[in-house]
Amino acid sequence: MKVLLIGSGSREHAIADALARSVHEPKIFAVMSNRNPGIIRICESTGGEYFIGKITDPQFVREIGERVSPDFAFIGPEEPQFHGVSDALEEAGIPCVGAREKLSEIERSKAFMRRLMWKYRIPGRLRFKAFKNVEEAIAYIKEYAESIALKPARQAGGKGVKVIADIQAYLRRERTEVKEKHAKKIYEEHMKPYDDIEDKILIEEKVDGPEYTLQCFTDGRTVLPLPLVQDNKNAFEMDIGPETGGMGSISGKGFLLPFIEEDEFRESVKIVESVVRALEKEFGMRYHGVISGQMMLTALWGPTIIEFYSRFGDPEGVNVLPILKTDLVEISEAVISEKLHKMKIEVEEKATVVKAIAPQGYPNRRDLAKGHPIAVDERAIEEQGARVFYGSVNVDNGRLITGGSRAVEIFACAETIEEASKIVDKCVKYVRCLDGWGLFYRSDIGSSTLLHRRMELAELVRNVYRYRRSKGIIGIKIDWIPGVGKIVYES
Ligand code: GLY
Repeated sequence: MKVLLIGSGSREHAIADALARSVHEPKIFAVMSNRNPGIIRICESTGGEYFIGKITDPQFVREIGERVSPDFAFIGPEEPQFHGVSDALEEAGIPCVGAREKLSEIERSKAFMRRLMWKYRIPGRLRFKAFKNVEEAIAYIKEYAESIALKPARQAGGKGVKVIADIQAYLRRERTEVKEKHAKKIYEEHMKPYDDIEDKILIEEKVDGPEYTLQCFTDGRTVLPLPLVQDNKNAFEMDIGPETGGMGSISGKGFLLPFIEEDEFRESVKIVESVVRALEKEFGMRYHGVISGQMMLTALWGPTIIEFYSRFGDPEGVNVLPILKTDLVEISEAVISEKLHKMKIEVEEKATVVKAIAPQGYPNRRDLAKGHPIAVDERAIEEQGARVFYGSVNVDNGRLITGGSRAVEIFACAETIEEASKIVDKCVKYVRCLDGWGLFYRSDIGSSTLLHRRMELAELVRNVYRYRRSKGIIGIKIDWIPGVGKIVYES
């Protein structure tokens, strides 16, 4: 059996590792944009091969696919999906675990995702406005003094999201200026590389609460969830600093997180199921792949969608793939043949923690973070009971060089999240830049301090959304204006 994997980050390293554990002993072939040493090793040890090139070029990937002739392809990142790589492979007779171009719109366009949720009245939706140009966005910002989240309307690598509270009337002018400035930045900077989408700026109502990621396999008929994971986006300890692709993530023993309850998990799965059904109605085709809800427990709805991913999260995928007991080749075959209802997802009964180690400069100055020789003592890390998944690094003339983003992710599992976190912390010293350049990571991810913070926040919003539910005003925003009366924004 042969499997073709597309992608070259830590998530793809974890996918390759899970595929290689299969009883079907597949040969792993990979198409990568950089030489990931972990994936290369798996390709070589299974008798496969790897190819370096533009993974977003459907023609290039199709040619490799035709040469390798795999039983199926597994597409790790979102951009190849947005560019039609799954479509090109399937046209060549290679079935894919990975959304077709049209279906990946659920991640690519945040405005499409919101419109879809409103059209099908799917719970966990937020009020929003999408703008094709910056002038209209600014006119809206000037007219409505609201607490908002300002976002690029396209998936832009997690960059450019800014949440602005606007509650003190005396700061209104200053807040408006901040919003206007950020709207311009989204238009001129974050959306500049993308000409494949008309909507440019998205304004959403602001919500608060603990975030979590629900990753699921789907064949378009059945949605099979994996254990919940929480990613930590801020660059620095205690949720400070710029947003990154994710500095580390936690998952609890079993399928829940310490701050998400069983009924909230089930409701979250229902939301993903409704979206998968809605996608089929819109496009007349079934989704074959991984779909993830990046969610928040909010006072407005309880489980609420912030974004969708048409893939595993990174690092979130690295929490669940190493503890996956169900054979990933068999899951993939069930996805492709639409027999997922026959599968059961089993995972080791462990809590997991993943922490990313990144060169200084990431995320805002990737130019500075790039090009440093780096050494990873894998054996020392394994002796501590942890594992390394390689990310933004490249093997160049036998040396490992940083690529400007998260270089490696260290995974550990244990009885509790706190224990797993401590195991990872012990391993960080075994990763270092050989030219003296600094590396950083977040020791607080998985600590009891941060866990308690999330649990307290969850309890606060849980009390409110359950009250709303009891009063029949879930998802509804109500203002009271003296002399005017009640204004209901949502029904
Ligand atoms: N961890 C966030 C993402 O995968 O986009």
